[in-house]
Amino acid sequence: MNTAHLRFPCFLGRRVHLGVTGSISAYKSLELLRLLVDSQISVSATLTSSGQRFIGAESFQALGAVAVHTTMFPDVPTDDPFAHLTPSRAADAFVIAPATANILAKIAHGIADDMLSTQALAFRGPLILAPAMNPAMWAAPATRENWRTVLERGGVGVGPAAGAVACGDTGEGRLSPVEHIFAAVLRALSPKDLLGRNILVTLGPTREPWDAVRFLSNPSSGLMGACLAVSAWMRGATVNVVAGPTSFDFPPGITVTPVNTAQEMLTAASELFPAADIACCTAAVCDFRPVPPASGAERKLKKRDLGSCLPSIELLANPDILRTLGATKRHGQTLIGFAAETDDLLAQAKLKLAEKHLDLIVANRVGVPGSGFESATNAVTVLDRTGRVEQWPELPKTEVAWRIWDLLQHL
Ligand code: C5P
Repeated sequence: MNTAHLRFPCFLGRRVHLGVTGSISAYKSLELLRLLVDSQISVSATLTSSGQRFIGAESFQALGAVAVHTTMFPDVPTDDPFAHLTPSRAADAFVIAPATANILAKIAHGIADDMLSTQALAFRGPLILAPAMNPAMWAAPATRENWRTVLERGGVGVGPAAGAVACGDTGEGRLSPVEHIFAAVLRALSPKDLLGRNILVTLGPTREPWDAVRFLSNPSSGLMGACLAVSAWMRGATVNVVAGPTSFDFPPGITVTPVNTAQEMLTAASELFPAADIACCTAAVCDFRPVPPASGAERKLKKRDLGSCLPSIELLANPDILRTLGATKRHGQTLIGFAAETDDLLAQAKLKLAEKHLDLIVANRVGVPGSGFESATNAVTVLDRTGRVEQWPELPKTEVAWRIWDLLQHL
C-alpha cells in the first residue's frame, strides 16, 4: 500500500508502547513497528505469552524496538524492575495490535495478570486498540460490552475490518490495515489545533474520457492533497476529500468522495463547500475535456474504422472549481489554492490569489527535480491575502502540509 502520505517527519523522539497479543495476525505488528521506527518514533513492546506462539521477541528487537517484554517475572532480572509501569511513565501512546477478545476483556475489567494487561491498566495516555479475532467472538455479547466500555473510557478503536479470517469464517474480525493503525497512532501523538474545523480537500488528477477506453489526464499523484488531508485529520479536523484517481488509501476517519472528471469534482466539492470552514484545492484539474468521437463516448474507436485518416481531438473548457468556490465564498471561509507554474511563478501566483478570491496560495515550479508532480518533496512559495510571501526550502510534502496548517493559524 502507498504510505507516502503518512510519512510525517515531525514525530522524532516520541515514544510509543506496542502490545501484541495471540492472533494469527500478530506478524503484522512487525510492519506497524517498522512504520513507527521509520518515523523516528521510539518503540518499546510487550508480547503476551500467546502472542509469542505466533511471533518472537527477537524480531521486534531486530527491527528496532528499544525494549521488548515477554513476561512479568523474567528468569534473569532486568535492569528495569518497574517495567510494568514504564509505559505509563514514558510512553506518549500505547497501541495494542492485534488485540484479542481476552485483552479487551482484561482492559474493560481492570484485570492485570500479566505484563501487557498490567502496563495497560497503569497507562493514562491515549490507548489505541486494533482488535483481531474470529467473527463469532467479536459478535459475542460479552466482547461487544467490553468494547463499548473501553471506547467509553476514551480508548481509540481501529477496526476490526470485515472479510475472510484465518479459520475460514467470514465477517467482522480481521485486523485493520496496518496503515490505518499507524495513522491512528500518529493522530494520538498530534496536537488538536484544528479541532472543530471542517476541511474540504480536492486532490489528484481528473480523468476526462474521450471514448470508452481512452482519456485525457495528467501525472498528478495526489500526494500533496493527501498529506494535507491526513495532517488536518491528525490535528483534529473533520476532513472531506474529493479525490480524482489516486493510489492513496485514507484512514477511515476521513470521508472520501471518489470522482473521475472535473465536472464530477465540481459537483462533489460544491456540495461540501457550504459546510466547510476551509477548502484546499490541490487537485490538478484538467482544464479541457475531449469531445467524444463521432462513434460515441460509450464505444471504443477502432483503428480499422478509420482507414488511413487519423482522428483529431476537439477540446471543451472544463469548469474552474477553485474559482467557482471562490465566487461563492462566505465570510469566515478560508480558501487555499495551488499554482504549478513553469515560469513567472510569483506573478502568476499573485494573479491567481486575487482572481480566485483566495486567502492563501501555494506556488511551486513544475518541471524541476524535487518539486511538483510525482515528487515526494516540494519547494514552494506561499503567498497570503495580507501580502505576506514566504519561500520554503525543498521539504517532504508531509512537512509542507504540516507547515501550511501552522501558517493558517496566524492568517
Ligand atoms: O489556474 P490554475 O489551474 O493554475 O490554478 C491552480 C489552482 O486552481 C489549483 O488550486 C487547482 O486545484 C485549482 N483548479 C481548479 N479547477 C480547475 C483548474 C484549477 O480547482 N479547473
